Amino acid sequence: MGFETKKEVLEWYERQPRALTNEFIENIAWRDVKNYELNEKFVPVLLYMRDVEVLTDMYYSEMRRTPTGKDPYISKFMERWGIEEITHGEVINRFLNEAGYETGEKWKDQVHRSVSRFYKANTYLLTLLTNLIGKQFTATHMTFGAIHEMSTAQAYRRMMKMANHPVLTEIMTAIIREESAHSKFYANIAQIELKRSELSQKVARFIIGKFYKPVGQGSRPKKQTHYAIGTLFSGKEGLDWLDRNVTQKLQTLQGIYGLTKVTDTIARIQNKQFA
Ligand SMILES: [Fe+2]
Ligand SMILES: [Fe+2]
Repeated sequence: MGFETKKEVLEWYERQPRALTNEFIENIAWRDVKNYELNEKFVPVLLYMRDVEVLTDMYYSEMRRTPTGKDPYISKFMERWGIEEITHGEVINRFLNEAGYETGEKWKDQVHRSVSRFYKANTYLLTLLTNLIGKQFTATHMTFGAIHEMSTAQAYRRMMKMANHPVLTEIMTAIIREESAHSKFYANIAQIELKRSELSQKVARFIIGKFYKPVGQGSRPKKQTHYAIGTLFSGKEGLDWLDRNVTQKLQTLQGIYGLTKVTDTIARIQNKQFA
């Protein structure tokens, strides 16, 4: 990781072209979707992915109320990031429709409305707490962001491999390209912020160790999160995959060495499923 300042990281990100341009989306072989088999077991996972993507704006608006969201480089990134995540949700939704799974015109409203009041109140509380800790919390936010983006990218990779549907592969390849850029942004900003102070490292380590949950858990029912994990990352092979591609990468961040929380959490979910 060769970036010294947040400005450099942002400039790098801004140089990355969008993978999912309108032109790209129009040219997806939508008409071919139905010509290939899509194993039904992936449908709930695709719905989960879609929902988590479009709920990004909820997270984004909470984040904007914290010191992290007020950081000029991070907020500039988040403007584009928020749009990209929504596109991911929309493209997945269109894919499901083309595959014969109708979702209705108001699906986005339904997803937003389905988030429980308890969850929203909880998020609000967390924002308040975050504001109390202030700037020291930015490293934690960014480390969480890196974990979520890395694991999302890996989920898409697994989906692509397992579903083996040519049109879905085309879509996932483009989404993964954008998720990788998000991962790189978050991880590099996290590294810069973590290196700044030992307190930031301690806070990040503590909060992640205590509160890490897989992407989407909370805003979506736990059952759905567990189903997605069980489908995409089952057994020792799935766990090793995540350990290699998320946990071990995360451990390269300053002060995060030896943290195995992500792998441990997924292992626990796997055990619950087979119990
Ligand atoms: Fe995304
Ligand atoms: Fe992302």
